Amino acid sequence: MSEQTQKKKVIILFGGRADEHSISCISAGSVLRAIDRDRFDPIPVAITKEGQWILSDDDPCKWNLASSVMPELHIMATSRPISVDLDKGADGFYVLDSLTSEHRESLGHIDAIFPVLHGEYGEDGALQGFLETLNIPYVGCGVLASAVCMDKHFTKVVLRNAGIPVAPGLTFDARRFDQESHFEANKDEILTAVRNAHLEYPLFVKPAWGGSSFGVSCVDDEAHLISALWEAYPHSWRILVEQGIDGREIECAVLSLNPAEDPQTSWPGEIVIDAHEHDSDAFYDFDSKYTDASASHVEVPAQLPTDMLQKVRDTASRAFLAVNGRGLMRVDTFVQHDGTVMVNEINTMPGFTSISMYPKAWEVSGIGYQDVITKLIESICR
Ligand SMILES: Nc1ncnc2c1ncn2[C@@H]1O[C@H](COP(=O)(O)OP(=O)(O)O)[C@@H](O)[C@H]1O
Ligand SMILES: [Mg+2]
Repeated sequence: MSEQTQKKKVIILFGGRADEHSISCISAGSVLRAIDRDRFDPIPVAITKEGQWILSDDDPCKWNLASSVMPELHIMATSRPISVDLDKGADGFYVLDSLTSEHRESLGHIDAIFPVLHGEYGEDGALQGFLETLNIPYVGCGVLASAVCMDKHFTKVVLRNAGIPVAPGLTFDARRFDQESHFEANKDEILTAVRNAHLEYPLFVKPAWGGSSFGVSCVDDEAHLISALWEAYPHSWRILVEQGIDGREIECAVLSLNPAEDPQTSWPGEIVIDAHEHDSDAFYDFDSKYTDASASHVEVPAQLPTDMLQKVRDTASRAFLAVNGRGLMRVDTFVQHDGTVMVNEINTMPGFTSISMYPKAWEVSGIGYQDVITKLIESICR
């Protein structure tokens, strides 16, 4: 067998229908730049915002966060769609010459799929279920963990049940609310429920699913609560209202290559918000995540005593097991002044550019970016 045929063929799947489409493109560009091409033969497959799968004709390697234009994929006359023969599973992937051509060419046997997809339809169990049906190995969490972690309400239900602290709060089903009045008609009902929950302001209002801080607001008083719910609503009809937690944002990368062993945890890193001087309500919003490099920075390992770092790692490991994790996840915590470690949220496909927290935390903990990618893929290949 030639060296070429021994390489594992891996579809790098990116883009997608979620709000975080562009972030996924950037993460995938980074993966494609770093992947070990002596071991793997990566095939970049893009999912447009409308949900069509196409062989990437653009060069994803050129996408990076430094660019002022966020990448977005659209179908064009020259696009080469991917079709899948369900009964052929891993051998059932074909590429059409173009939108108009009937001619299709097999992509050959696919050894694994690496879904570098964030958010709905990519990170929420839907795609994972599809890949399970096709019987193709894929990187990352399975259906259950993906679905649980995509929904911040259910993540908290599972974590609380495992004895892991989470922010106090309540959850609304906004489908019941009057939309013509932008929820104003339900104001009394909403405010009463929040008062009865005995939460102290500031509160955080956030969509149950979503990411990149889309639709998340910090609310200082009752007067701004309804508009904050309305702002969250386009992202998800389930909306969380949480106690604002006064704590440091510490994130831990988890890697599990063998389900029979305890997961590995990285040294935790910290998101340090630098904009506090100008804005006391500054939090880790979209701009500080992606567009305003001066708004925040990341420190790995976080400047915390070793026993606190260890406590975060233990919590991350317990959270991984509680949600039935597989492969990887980033567990985001708040470390409070009294030493409580509270889980804020779990990302089953965390930002994956070479400068994102997940790869960075592993780099500092002794596993380089390329190695993380290699380990994740090799651990699932049959
Ligand atoms: N309960 C909370 N207390 C304090 N800050 C919060 C709370 N919930 C969210 N935040 C802030 O909002 C940011 C985004 O919220 P998060 O729940 O992490 O959603 P996303 O999935 O969009 O990242 C967090 O990184 C943090 O800065
Ligand atoms: Mg977050």
